[in-house]
Amino acid sequence: MCGIIGFTGSKEAQNILLDGLQKLEYRGYDSAGIAFFKDNGSHVSIRKTAGKVDDLRAICDEENNSTCGIGHTRWATHGGVTNANAHPHKFGNVTLIHNGIIENYHELIEKYNLKGQLKSDTDSEIAAAVIDAHYDGDPKEAIKAAVKELKGAFAFCVLFKGHPGEVYAIRNVSPMVASYAAGAGAFIASDITAFIEYTNRYFVLPEYHLLTMKEDGIFLENLSGQAVEPEFMTVDWDVTTAQKGGYPYFMIKEIHEEPTALANTINPRISDLLPDFSADEVPDSLFAGVKDITIIACGTAMYAGNVGGAFIRNKLGIPVTVAIASEFRYERPTISKDTLVIVASQSGETIDTLEALKLAKQYTDRTLSIVNVKGSSIARESHHVLYTHGGPEIAVASTKAYSVQVAVLYLVACKLGLVNNSLNEADVRDFISDLRNIPSMVEELLNQEDKIARQADRMANATDAFFIGRGLDYSLSMEGALKLKEISYIHAEAYAAGELKHGTISLITDGTPVIAIATQQNVYGKVVSNIREVKARGAYVILLSKDKVITDNTICDVHFSLPAVRDELTVFESAVILQILAYYTSLGKGNNPDQPRNLAKSVTVE
Ligand code: G6P
Repeated sequence: MCGIIGFTGSKEAQNILLDGLQKLEYRGYDSAGIAFFKDNGSHVSIRKTAGKVDDLRAICDEENNSTCGIGHTRWATHGGVTNANAHPHKFGNVTLIHNGIIENYHELIEKYNLKGQLKSDTDSEIAAAVIDAHYDGDPKEAIKAAVKELKGAFAFCVLFKGHPGEVYAIRNVSPMVASYAAGAGAFIASDITAFIEYTNRYFVLPEYHLLTMKEDGIFLENLSGQAVEPEFMTVDWDVTTAQKGGYPYFMIKEIHEEPTALANTINPRISDLLPDFSADEVPDSLFAGVKDITIIACGTAMYAGNVGGAFIRNKLGIPVTVAIASEFRYERPTISKDTLVIVASQSGETIDTLEALKLAKQYTDRTLSIVNVKGSSIARESHHVLYTHGGPEIAVASTKAYSVQVAVLYLVACKLGLVNNSLNEADVRDFISDLRNIPSMVEELLNQEDKIARQADRMANATDAFFIGRGLDYSLSMEGALKLKEISYIHAEAYAAGELKHGTISLITDGTPVIAIATQQNVYGKVVSNIREVKARGAYVILLSKDKVITDNTICDVHFSLPAVRDELTVFESAVILQILAYYTSLGKGNNPDQPRNLAKSVTVE
């Protein structure tokens, strides 16, 4: 949460900072600010405001020839959404931006006698004060001494009065990546999308290492002052991938990218129609003798885990627990050395997921992460990683990342079954050959976008909506409900279709939208009966099924026909319909689907 960027080089900094912040806005958009050296470095100037980066741009000088500065877009934790609480914060000689939470800020206020001296309610300003208290002309020594006193997660970029052209950065837990691009200068940011325009090479700033950025180079050192060589990585996408490419919002663009994301994730992992993780360096021994599985994640990734978990349970007959990371951390773990722990995360930075992974590692050496962002903390912390090749996902509501996570879980299930002889090769080949067709099926479905959009007006007028299904359709409906509520603000709930009558059906009144998913043949008749029960009570039913047409209006008001695929694979198709439905409902309500209120994409606070 919170997006941060720093730049120093030969180019003008202001637009680099503002454009970078715009790309990081998915991390938070409560307030925004920049700081830069002015008057040949004798002075550090700040522009900041509550609101979005566009509001910040409006209060920035038209002309600003400073070539060094830092910028921040905030997701409020300590202190409300006000101009004063916006970053950067200046205290004495120090101006900084911060992502994270300083847990011992109360003690530090006492220790440094800061009462009455602070202009904001943030923990970040206290960090600036502590660094300033240690400052005696040497920025590095001040930061090194200060971080020893700070408890909690932090990523800081710091400017010091009297040190023009220099940006200092350090982090613990909260992510930051950096690079140096010849001809431009040195960059640091919460993620590479902020500076991908200048270079596709970057390194993850190691925790408790200090980075000094100057126009002519960067220098990385540990806290004892020894130089450390940065470990550079390259991303295989460019600036166009992180732009809207003609679509009005990132969310709809990312939905349209699902066929490609699925193909890129699935195809390189298939050889001779069997799952092959050799290029990922994930050995078969990881799966041999696995007795049970725990999948840990948050939000949409956790719902992908629900689908994958249900699939593995049914296909392989082994116990699978799907754990909410923030709960898992504080429960008594039920994992052993024979448990395969799978951790799913688009960003690879969600703090609860990361901490849950660290906890799980105390019980098993078999941890496997499914992560979209290369080199992210979760990817580095787990024993093994299978990257999803979804490309950057910028809209706060996750779409393509969900589908590719499910796809990887399906491949893992096949691999587990083969390694442990619970599936035979012929069946797996049949399954994989169908899985490989999924990208084109999803592509075909996207043709129904207009028809889905036409449902948006009716949905936009609803106050509640229910998603029902059985089996995999129930697991999927949880994600459908989440998607709708997070961007349309309509209360939405998912129910196992058979469970509705045990209470929730009392909420169904005339016109309540019920999105029913009926793709699993073994329970098809049962779901249809459940649909009739809500229809009889006035529900407006939107049905997703594999039927070509449905003429019986006692079942539904609108029907979406899914291209025929085996039951286990319909989730990829239904997911796209539910995502598009949520998107147009959000638009119908006049919302910005990319930036729903109160949310942020990357949740790096507990
Ligand atoms: C936030 C995002 C969700 C995401 C969840 C987990 O809540 O808004 O879209 O599913 O975090 O994020 P991760 O990066 O771990 O998948």
